[in-house]
Amino acid sequence: MSLTIDRGRLLAEIEALASFSDAEAPAVTRIVFTPTDLKARAWMKERCEEAGLTVRQDAIGNIFARWNGSDPAAPVVGTGSHIDAIPNAGKFDGVVGVLGGLEAIRGLQQSGFRPKHSIELIVFTSEEPTRFGIGCLGSRLLSGALSPDAARKLTDNDGVALDEVRRGAGFAGEVEQVKLPSGYYKAFIELHIEQGPLLERQQNPLGIVTKIAAPASLRVLIEGSGGHAGAVLMPERHDALCAAAELILAIEGAARNSGAIDTVATVGICEVFPGAVNSIPSRVRLSVDVRDTDLQRRDTAMRTIETTCDSISAKRQVSIHSELLNADAPADCAPAIIDALSQFCRKHELKFIPIVSRAYHDSLFIARIAPVAMLFIPCRNGYSHRPDEYAAPEDIVRGTLVLAETLAALSA
Ligand code: GLV
Ligand code: MN
Ligand code: MN
Repeated sequence: MSLTIDRGRLLAEIEALASFSDAEAPAVTRIVFTPTDLKARAWMKERCEEAGLTVRQDAIGNIFARWNGSDPAAPVVGTGSHIDAIPNAGKFDGVVGVLGGLEAIRGLQQSGFRPKHSIELIVFTSEEPTRFGIGCLGSRLLSGALSPDAARKLTDNDGVALDEVRRGAGFAGEVEQVKLPSGYYKAFIELHIEQGPLLERQQNPLGIVTKIAAPASLRVLIEGSGGHAGAVLMPERHDALCAAAELILAIEGAARNSGAIDTVATVGICEVFPGAVNSIPSRVRLSVDVRDTDLQRRDTAMRTIETTCDSISAKRQVSIHSELLNADAPADCAPAIIDALSQFCRKHELKFIPIVSRAYHDSLFIARIAPVAMLFIPCRNGYSHRPDEYAAPEDIVRGTLVLAETLAALSA
């Protein structure tokens, strides 16, 4: 099999997809089910159809593009990632796995290879939590990690129900139909930028993921009492933002003092009401994101945060209500796919390291129903979720080549 990756086409498609954005270039903002996201999806489906793939969508908008194998009833070999992008993001997160996956399939088609197991590219819906507060909507439903009932309770940032938003975007049917039947996948591989600095620092072009860290997130609502910034004296105050400030530092402390460098905690959203210079904040909403490679340690940090909420609430006489949005377990990658990826790295004399994914990915949920693995390529300075996110063309092509060879080996 003589396999070539069309570098020019792949890079041009990454640029083309980045043009579907609600932010000024080089930033990319593409929030799920917005008109921009829908245009990007339509463009993506056209590319898949052009490649002769059979395209279908499910009720949550996951896109499946299948290259039928000679045994269409055999379990599928899957690859893919997401194309939604958080506000002010870059052009590579998720996209490298989707367009790299498509290019891997086209490269295999052109090489004359014919799979026995169908190879299927998937574009997962809403890997990013921006709109509905919870990440990996598509893969959670596909794997059964999110029940249809729980999905129906989700609302977007404007309070509109997920069901209404998805139907408005043209995705009909019931979410009950999204879960994949057991045994659907033989294997699943996701190509992704590392989103951290290790590969670049160690001058390694490839990382083979062994484990995906365990994420959890909370929404915290603090209610104190507002009033005039001049007239209410300090002993009388129940300032919700001061309580939030104390809590934010305690959350940082819960991660810093966990005893392991692997615990991380972030407050990424702090909304202050009413938000006027001469008004005491009466209400604050925080988002809390806590992750670790070790589930018990992550949960210990979560419990510390809960206890701190209680003590700050008592001390400052404010109410603090926290809602657990998700608390997911880590996933281990499948040794057989790790071996296959390693074998093709060696074949092409490409250095690689085993690596832990500290970001979460759709593979975290697909791992519940299939053997999965992930292949990381470096990104400059480890930057991601920012407009200057960058992956070098040679790294993208190398990752795509190893992905293609591994897809071929697994689907033969
Ligand atoms: C995914 O984007 C993450 O936040 O890890
Ligand atoms: Mn992301
Ligand atoms: Mn991603």
